[in-house]
Amino acid sequence: MAKLIYSAITSLDGYVADVDGNFEWAVPDEEVHTFINDLARPVGTHLYGRRLYETMVGWETDPTLADHSPVMRDFAEIWQAADKIVYSKTLETASTARTRIERDFDPEAVRQMKSLAARDLIVGGPELAAHAFRAGLVDEYHLFVAPMVVGGGKQSLPDNVRQQLALLDERRFGNGMVYLAYRTRP
Ligand SMILES: NC(=O)c1ccc[n+]([C@@H]2O[C@H](COP(=O)([O-])OP(=O)(O)OC[C@H]3O[C@@H](n4cnc5c(N)ncnc54)[C@H](OP(=O)(O)O)[C@@H]3O)[C@@H](O)[C@H]2O)c1
Repeated sequence: MAKLIYSAITSLDGYVADVDGNFEWAVPDEEVHTFINDLARPVGTHLYGRRLYETMVGWETDPTLADHSPVMRDFAEIWQAADKIVYSKTLETASTARTRIERDFDPEAVRQMKSLAARDLIVGGPELAAHAFRAGLVDEYHLFVAPMVVGGGKQSLPDNVRQQLALLDERRFGNGMVYLAYRTRP
């Protein structure tokens, strides 16, 4: 059975974006990006909330992104090769290949996807992922903690979810970011 992984880059106080919607402090440097690429490489399907999807489409629609560095080109290729499901009631059409739109998050459909998939799945951003957390569908948390306190904004983890975890992996980076991977415990 494939795993569903929640992945996010968060401030130390638990936000993916500040009150103004900014997250420039979360942009990975080359070392972190290389690590992220290796985590993303084996993933088969991304489950996206519409807002996070809109921040990611450039990896396919804007060729100048990949031109910045070999590590960004590598990520663009990994991203384009993966399947994407975008959850949205408003998005008319997807602007990327290998992408389909779902109007509702159906936990049973995701459970079935996990049981049929040969490769792991990733879910994000936080608003969409909250549905997966509440349905008990998330198997692993992969969090990159940035050396930043923003005081408020978009929470990386939802309220009213209680979950015991076991630490799977950790890693520190030169720019002060720390990677923490946990699996859920029953
Ligand atoms: N820290 C970082 O590295 C980083 C990187 C990129 C982005 N960000 C931030 O993260 C934010 C994205 O996270 P988010 O939590 O705001 O949004 P999100 O979860 O990515 O997307 C929310 C949208 O997904 C759709 N959706 C959610 N639940 C649904 C359901 N049950 N059924 C159908 N559609 C559903 C809705 O789209 P519709 O409104 O279309 O119906 C909703 O507005 C961005 O806005 C950005 O600020 C941070």
